[in-house]
Amino acid sequence: MIETIGLGRKFDDKVAVEDLNLRVEDGEVFGLLGPNGAGKTTTMRMLACLIKQSSGTATVNGYEINKEPDSSFIRSIVGVLPESPGLYDSLSANRNLEFFARLYGVQKYEREKRIEELLRMLELWERREEPVATFSKGMKQKIAIARAFVHDPQVVFLDEPTAGLDPQAAHTVREFLLALRKEGRTIFINSHHLDEVERLCDRIAIMNRSVLAVGSPRELARRYWGRTTVIELSQPVQGFLEVVRSLPFASKVREEDGKMLVDLDDPEERNPAIIEALSRAGAKIEYVTELRRSLEDVYMKLIGGEAR
Ligand SMILES: Nc1ncnc2c1ncn2[C@@H]1O[C@H](COP(=O)(O)OP(=O)(O)O)[C@@H](O)[C@H]1O
Ligand SMILES: [Mg+2]
Repeated sequence: MIETIGLGRKFDDKVAVEDLNLRVEDGEVFGLLGPNGAGKTTTMRMLACLIKQSSGTATVNGYEINKEPDSSFIRSIVGVLPESPGLYDSLSANRNLEFFARLYGVQKYEREKRIEELLRMLELWERREEPVATFSKGMKQKIAIARAFVHDPQVVFLDEPTAGLDPQAAHTVREFLLALRKEGRTIFINSHHLDEVERLCDRIAIMNRSVLAVGSPRELARRYWGRTTVIELSQPVQGFLEVVRSLPFASKVREEDGKMLVDLDDPEERNPAIIEALSRAGAKIEYVTELRRSLEDVYMKLIGGEAR
């Protein structure tokens, strides 16, 4: 579990992170979203004990950051993908990973097995003996991602894992992360790739210096946009808007793209009555679904709101 309590960091007079309060459960894939300069990288570096905080504190699996011997222990149980890969260019992909795994005391048999598994998943096994210097940006990024997992860490911090990757490489990396989340470790991802976060993460926080909102993408969508039932009829919906409007609980009823949209606080409770009223009025119902708001809708509402 990761917990931050009033965590903050200044660079000279500039506040990068302020009063950050977060809780990430064991085994969770957690996404940290926010605009450029929101303090995502700074937060991750504090949690991985790469830089010190200016205020507040945090624990990673029960150990306190910036306090010995806890911080040494945290460094030994976390894997980090930093902003820039930082590999040994003259060494092969295999050697890079081996070097790092040895540093973490991974034994030979485990090391070889793990490296092969990671390189195969990332589609770089065939290239393992080639020096990293000859690799494309995307390939280097993949090796750096493999490195973050090579010592089987309990907690992994990934700073923009698919930044700068072409769509195919980004897809491979997403598949890789989806496969590895099944191993049950905690994965903390910084990103501003909203689609990706929505697909990969159990819960997310949107931050700008401090936390603006936390929840699963679905919870956030409901919290910031409310809930809307979408009804499709085999005839034009215009003639039936009044039928639904006459129900005491259905205040906002409208037509959009030929569908009827009804804002409701508790759709599970109210949908049956709406369906019944429509049927009685002679409507032929084809579909009743929930309007899905994307994480982008939520993000724009929160960050757009801040900008104004
Ligand atoms: N080493 C540093 N020295 C000075 N300012 C920094 C340093 N690292 C980050 N900052 C500043 O802190 C703020 C947050 O940066 P960062 O954590 O990198 O944001 P993000 O990762 O969300 O884009 C930015 O204004 C950035 O310029
Ligand atoms: Mg960053």
